[in-house]
Amino acid sequence: MNIITQYAATIRGATAKGNKGAIVLFDKAINKNDLVCDADISLETLANEIKSKDLIKSICIKELGTFYIGDSYDYANETLCMFNNTTAQFAYTSAKLTGRSAVMSNRVAIVTGGAQGFGEGIVRQLVEAEALVFIADMNIEGAKKLADELNLNAQKTVALPVAVNVTDEDSIIAMLDEVAINAGGVDLFVNNAGVLKAASVKEQTAQDLKFVTDVNYTGYFLCVKHVSKVMEIMNTYADDAYFTDIIQISSKSGLEGSNKNGSYAGSKFGGIGLTQSFALELVTDNTKVNSICPGNFFDGPLWSDPERGLFVQYLNTGKVPGAKTIADVKAFYEAKVPMNRGCDGKDVTKAILYAVEQEYETGQAIPVTGGQVMLN
Ligand SMILES: NC(=O)c1ccc[n+]([C@@H]2O[C@H](COP(=O)([O-])OP(=O)(O)OC[C@H]3O[C@@H](n4cnc5c(N)ncnc54)[C@H](O)[C@@H]3O)[C@@H](O)[C@H]2O)c1
Repeated sequence: MNIITQYAATIRGATAKGNKGAIVLFDKAINKNDLVCDADISLETLANEIKSKDLIKSICIKELGTFYIGDSYDYANETLCMFNNTTAQFAYTSAKLTGRSAVMSNRVAIVTGGAQGFGEGIVRQLVEAEALVFIADMNIEGAKKLADELNLNAQKTVALPVAVNVTDEDSIIAMLDEVAINAGGVDLFVNNAGVLKAASVKEQTAQDLKFVTDVNYTGYFLCVKHVSKVMEIMNTYADDAYFTDIIQISSKSGLEGSNKNGSYAGSKFGGIGLTQSFALELVTDNTKVNSICPGNFFDGPLWSDPERGLFVQYLNTGKVPGAKTIADVKAFYEAKVPMNRGCDGKDVTKAILYAVEQEYETGQAIPVTGGQVMLN
C-alpha cells in the first residue's frame, strides 16, 4: 500500500463521526491549507492533529500533496477546484433517507464485477441508498458507461469507475490506491466478480477449473488481503463505533451441490470457508465479513443473454423435456423456486444493507433464494 493511501485512510478514519468518515480527495499540488504537516509525519500524529481541530477542509503534507475533505465527493471536490481555480462539475443535494436504507448514506462502497448482472443491480441500489460507489470491473468501458448514467441522473457524483482484475494482486492494489485518492478509503467491499464454467467432473479441463477457482476463490482471498489493510487503518484512527464490511456474493451453490457444476459450487463453498475465517480474524479491526447466497438471476445476462444465455443453451440442447420456447425453459426453472421467480440485484442489496446495519453478526452465509435453499 503506498503512503498516499495510508494517509488518506488515516484522514478518513480520524474525521469519522459515528460510522461516517469524510470523503478525502488527494491532489499532488501543494496549496495553502488549514493544516500543514511535515513530509515524514506519522499516521498517529496526523490523526491526533486532525482530532484536535474543529473543522478542517484541507491538509497539506509537505513534498507529497494536498488532501481535501468534505461530507460528500462533490463537497471535497469543490474545495479542490477552488484551490486550483477550476469549476466543480456537479451540484450536490443532501440525503433524505432514514432507517436501514440510510446505513450506506455518504459511505464508500466498492463493487467488483459491477458493470453488469448482479453487480450492476447492487451498484444501482447502493446509489439509491446514497453511497459513493466505485464500479470495479475488468470491463472498464461498461463501468464508465454505468457511472456516467448514474452521475447524470443524480446530478452529483454518486459512482466512479475503476479498473481491476481480481486475479491479479498488483491490479487489486492499484484499484485500492485509486479509491483512496478519490475517497480516502472504503466502508463496504462487495466481492461480486465471479465466473462459471459448467461441466461434468469427468470432462472439465484443469484449465477451466483453474479459471473458475482463480476468479471466485483466489480473487476473493486476494481482494480481502489488501482491502482489509485499508480498513484496518481507517478503524485504527476512528472511534469504536466505526464498522466496515466485506460481503462475498456467494450463491445457493455455496450451500448445496450443483450437478455438473462442481468447479463453481466448490469455489463458492470455499468462499464461505474464507468468509468464516476472515470474520474471526478481522473482528479485531471492527470489520464484519459475511457471504450472501443468491438464487438464480433469471433476468440477468448469464441466463437471459439471447445468444449465449443458459435459457437458449438449455432449449437448444433439449435439457428441459417438452420445452419449445425460451419462455418454457424459464417457467421450468422458476417453478423450482417456492416464490416462483428469480433473484435480482434489489433482493441481494436488501441482504447487504441488513449485514451492514447489523452490528452483532459476522461470518454468516445469508441465503436470498425465494425459499429454494433453506439452512439447517
Ligand atoms: N447469475 C446468477 O444466476 C447467479 C446466482 C447466484 C450467484 N451469482 C454470483 O453473482 C456474481 C455475479 O454474477 P453475474 O451472473 O451477475 O455475472 P456476470 O457474468 O453477469 O457479470 C460478472 C461481471 O464480473 C466481471 N468480471 C469477471 N471476471 C472478472 C475479474 N477477473 N476481475 C474483475 N471483474 C471481473 C465481468 O466483466 C462482469 O462485469 C458472481 O459471483 C456469481 O457467481 C450469480
